[in-house]
Amino acid sequence: MENIVSLCKRRGFIFPGSDIYGGMAGTWDFGPLGVMLKRNLMNTWWSYWVDGRDDMYGIDAAIIMNPKTWEASGHVDTFNDPLVECKECHGRFRADKLVEGANESISTEDFLKANPKCPTCGKQSWSEIKKFNMMFKMNVGPVDDGSSIAYLRPETAQGIFTNFKNVVDTIYPDLPFGLAQQGKAFRNEISPRDFILRDRECSQMEIEYFVHPDTWEEHFEKLSEEYHHFLIDVLGLPAEKLHDYEVPVEDRAHYSKRTIDLEFDYPNGREELMGIAYRTDFDLSNIAKNSGKSQEYRDKNTGESFVPHVIEPSIGVERLLLAVLASAYTEDEIDGKPRTVLKLSENLAPYRFCVSPLLKNKSELVEKAREVYGLLRKKYGNVTWDDSGNIGKRYRKQDEIGTPHCVVIDFDTLEDGTVTIRDRDTAEQKRVKVEEL
Ligand code: GAP
Repeated sequence: MENIVSLCKRRGFIFPGSDIYGGMAGTWDFGPLGVMLKRNLMNTWWSYWVDGRDDMYGIDAAIIMNPKTWEASGHVDTFNDPLVECKECHGRFRADKLVEGANESISTEDFLKANPKCPTCGKQSWSEIKKFNMMFKMNVGPVDDGSSIAYLRPETAQGIFTNFKNVVDTIYPDLPFGLAQQGKAFRNEISPRDFILRDRECSQMEIEYFVHPDTWEEHFEKLSEEYHHFLIDVLGLPAEKLHDYEVPVEDRAHYSKRTIDLEFDYPNGREELMGIAYRTDFDLSNIAKNSGKSQEYRDKNTGESFVPHVIEPSIGVERLLLAVLASAYTEDEIDGKPRTVLKLSENLAPYRFCVSPLLKNKSELVEKAREVYGLLRKKYGNVTWDDSGNIGKRYRKQDEIGTPHCVVIDFDTLEDGTVTIRDRDTAEQKRVKVEEL
């Protein structure tokens, strides 16, 4: 993990948030390369789940929602973590993370029985457990009198549920269908940790898939199978590092009747990458109760009216990005020398090609290289240029940021129109015509 964090900072992928002022725990800034990788990941997801299917539609709802949203969704009452305070050093921790095998509903009695050592000062003197609501509270508008309280959304899902009727009444989709959204979510995590794994500000990519209540099991299995295919075959995550965890009832979110977590073997251990939850009609029915507006769907063929049930595959962009980085990060040897290489797939790598003239002080080489660079940029967009240092060093620099192909223009190019193309993973070089790139 340390090597990945260091590479991310050194090469402009990810910086600690507000670094210049000493940081802001749980926030991260994406640099030029990180933002390209993140966008490629989010675009790949969108192409696969929305553009590539007839039964999915996109949506982009506001982050700040009417606070009634979070009453109806149950987040005001139940989106809590168990908080304990060390009476000696006043450090605050999530109680369930200090006791082996505990979950979020751990009682003060069980916690004090286990009596763990404080991770900061080592003492064993604890407060009672308090429920700590993880939503960020804020005031909207100029008046701060309690009536203006709103929250930063802790999940993107509610922007989908609250627009279910708008979508049904405007584009008339046939059930089953899904609404997909990508966007920021905010959680006041007690202990953000493990680089970008647990953040206070993160991005989610969520799908709410609306189905007839009698068919939820079939769609749950189907979506789960398709998500495995997406993670393994489209994004290239190693299948042996992915594990399904059937979440027991006492650990499930308040809205779920079944949840599978897909866990990943991260460098610091196995952690939840994403969840697939059967949310029943919990959200739509609560919205109907709280807004007074029916959320029923009328089947055009059978005439049946009912509140659809929902299967929700939900994944965090940062967690997926960390899984991608951890899978791609490789240390090996080329020509007897150690190197660091990010073996990212072509559709995710920040740059697809790096173009170089063999020598930067030969204007005819630079001119030809600029021409090839222009052609590739037009075709692929994400192409970079490098004419610094020697060729060997340029290759190493590109290996480290995951560029799959380096193209070098030399004197033979001027004669026969061929270039050297070097493969990142094998370091193999071949000559091809410019038109074949
Ligand atoms: N709408 C359902 C929902 O939000 P969740 O299990 O709380 O369910 C879904 O979150 C996914 O969002 C997680 O599996 C994880 O990938 C990501 N996620 C949640 N909290 C996160 C955090 N604090 N930092 C980074 N990612 C987070």
